[in-house]
Amino acid sequence: MSGFSARSDFSRTPNPLAEALSRHRARGLPLLDLTESNPTRAGLPAPEEALLAPPGACGYTPEALGLPSARGALAAHLTARGAAVAPEHLVLTASTSEAYGWLFKLLCEPGDNVLVPAPSYPLFEHLARLEGVEVKPYRLPRAHGFGLDVDEVEAARDARTRAVLVVNPGNPTGHYLHEGELAALADACARHGLALVSDEVFSDYAWDAEPARVATVAGRALPALTFALSGLSKVAGLPGLKLGWMHVGGPASLRDEALARLEWLTDTYLPVGTPVQLALPALLTQHVPRFQAAVLERVRGNRRRLFQARPADATWDVVPAHGGWSAVLRIPREPGEEATCLALLDAGVLVQPGFFYDFGGGAFLVLSLLPQPEVFAAAVDVLARVLSPSAG
Ligand SMILES: Cc1ncc(COP(=O)(O)O)c(C=O)c1O
Repeated sequence: MSGFSARSDFSRTPNPLAEALSRHRARGLPLLDLTESNPTRAGLPAPEEALLAPPGACGYTPEALGLPSARGALAAHLTARGAAVAPEHLVLTASTSEAYGWLFKLLCEPGDNVLVPAPSYPLFEHLARLEGVEVKPYRLPRAHGFGLDVDEVEAARDARTRAVLVVNPGNPTGHYLHEGELAALADACARHGLALVSDEVFSDYAWDAEPARVATVAGRALPALTFALSGLSKVAGLPGLKLGWMHVGGPASLRDEALARLEWLTDTYLPVGTPVQLALPALLTQHVPRFQAAVLERVRGNRRRLFQARPADATWDVVPAHGGWSAVLRIPREPGEEATCLALLDAGVLVQPGFFYDFGGGAFLVLSLLPQPEVFAAAVDVLARVLSPSAG
């Protein structure tokens, strides 16, 4: 087709599961949705709306990296959580997704590549492609609990690699980086001149205490240029407010050069709204603790319910994990992911197949742990019945 860029030519053909879902909905059939991960639709605490109309909300003070008051409040919040960060090393963005776009512009020439974990949330390929950047997967071995194996990273790297992306904890695998994994990765990045980009949107949602867990790379003395990304979508359950951030760290000369360049880049767009920046201090102190406590109670409760629904002789397992908003099930290879999702949809339950997340090496289903407890409980009872060997 003439007149359009190749990079905007995304496939719009629905897959068989999406088609079956449209038919299911068109027939008005009931559905228990275990793919629901929109925090504003799960009966979780919302902030007082007055917080979102702070005095001065209609003012305009263009600040490329974000308003100093917002960056200061964010630095205080992150520092209280154990990462000693300075406001001048924080950059506000309109979302974590946008932060990736800026980093790809900052770090890559068209045709360069970044290494991305597999399995992982399918976000990076589109974001990278829109910047003319390629993604090269590195495997998170299941034998290692889907943890990072630096040999896999080294094997995926080539002369055009510019950065390694990690998702900490993994989405949907729920594995946190451990100190040893981070040390090996930061060392490899420093040796090869690569940036380390750590997506920490779920980092506040640890289900248990794990020794040697890395909650964030922000504020650490690492030998490579590092970027720690997060935002209000997951930290506060408010994706609609459009506020994300990144912390820039690593050797001072690299860090300062990155910040100076990012300032130019962000000044070109100035994408972050004034009201949300002014509201940020109050959101962080008044809303975030309440929201996060409710989410943790929800996901822990739903996960417990999932284990209760699993019969002792089940042919499926809940994959061990330590945090986040999802659960991963390992299911028999036959009839496989798509057929199982279609059978579940027939029974009125929607889940995601592992191939959406590039699992490989077996068959998997992914469930959101965010739905209301009644919905979740009813859905996992159906799931256990459909997955039972005698169901067929
Ligand atoms: C791992 C991960 N990173 C980033 C995002 C996107 O966050 P944002 O809404 O801030 O763009 C998501 C969204 O689900 C995610 O799962």
